[in-house]
Amino acid sequence: MPQSKIAGIGMYVPQNVVTNQDLTQYMDTNDAWIQERTGIKERRYAHRTDETTTTMGLEAAKIAIERAGTTAQDIDFVVFATLSPDYYFPGCGVLVQRALKMKEVGALDIRNQCSGFLYALSVADQFIKTGMYKNILVIGAEKHSFGLDFSTRGRNVSVIFGDGAGAVVLQPTEEKGAGILSTHLHSDGESAEILAMYNPGTHANHWTDEPYADFDDAPIAQMFMSHQMIDHAQNFPFMDGPAVFKKAVVKFPEVILEALDQNGLSPKDLNMLIPHQANLRISQFVQQKMGLTDDQVYNNIQQYGNTTAASVPIALCEAWEQGKIKSGDLVCLAAFGSGFTWASALIRW
Ligand code: ACO
Repeated sequence: MPQSKIAGIGMYVPQNVVTNQDLTQYMDTNDAWIQERTGIKERRYAHRTDETTTTMGLEAAKIAIERAGTTAQDIDFVVFATLSPDYYFPGCGVLVQRALKMKEVGALDIRNQCSGFLYALSVADQFIKTGMYKNILVIGAEKHSFGLDFSTRGRNVSVIFGDGAGAVVLQPTEEKGAGILSTHLHSDGESAEILAMYNPGTHANHWTDEPYADFDDAPIAQMFMSHQMIDHAQNFPFMDGPAVFKKAVVKFPEVILEALDQNGLSPKDLNMLIPHQANLRISQFVQQKMGLTDDQVYNNIQQYGNTTAASVPIALCEAWEQGKIKSGDLVCLAAFGSGFTWASALIRW
């Protein structure tokens, strides 16, 4: 059975740099608070109309395809991970298929937030291993800036997120012990509401004790989005930050060790850990807990903020471009996020 290897990788971030100081025009915040709590110095925001989640994903994809030595016409499957799609439906995958003038190949969208790219990679890995496809394009992209609460009310969330995209092309390899060694996916929906964007949605507060009185007499069509939902900021992401922190620092090490254990390896064997760039404090906590050195962990949240599904491929691409990942290196990708969902992938580069 073939294994999958990352044959090409690319990233794209908008040119527009937004510093912590820039955010003080919109909300009561400051550079010291943001840096101390999250490590973030600046992030990129997409152009309002010219850059979308899909167009950023496309730019990253074009680089990945070229570096893989292939063409868009050779891609036989697309997997696109995002929580900020261009349209509520259809997903971004078909927009990529159209824009790159691909054959009528399958296009799958993944909604697993911060773990989205790893879920997407794992799905693509299975299709390569079974021999079903030979060139799979996997994209993680986000345009968070379109939907954050930039008032002081939303400051605990909005300062964290940024825009960008990363992509890889997976191909089969017969080289023994090379490529993706294993992937590991998990979820625990018990805390689904503590890192979530509730609306637009079809739940009608089914999962919470919140009253829904306003809508008793409303036609079904009006229940989807209302002024009340907007007044209560339910069209913006909600996060119980401390609760997320507590779970993340347990599940990150657990899923990294799971990947290492399954392959008979230990943390000292790792050349590079690429954690989802949730928060620098989370990455540092995980590093310390696992006894990893600074050289074994790559962080770039300082420059880009948290780009959710794009953060792992952006960090992986940057680390590789900087020569920090070389042929034969053992690389672990790991993510934790909304759902909760968490995941890892162990790769012999
Ligand atoms: N600027 C200034 N002050 C702020 C800001 C801001 N941007 N945001 C919140 N504050 C204030 C609060 O109003 C509060 O003030 P008060 O004490 O007067 O009420 C104070 O800072 C502390 O607020 P908390 O929300 O308790 O802040 P905390 O210290 O927990 O830090 C943070 C928030 C950074 C989100 C933290 O909880 C954390 O690190 N959580 C981990 C979750 C995370 O990083 N998620 C990333 C996205 S999800 C993911 O990718 C997995």
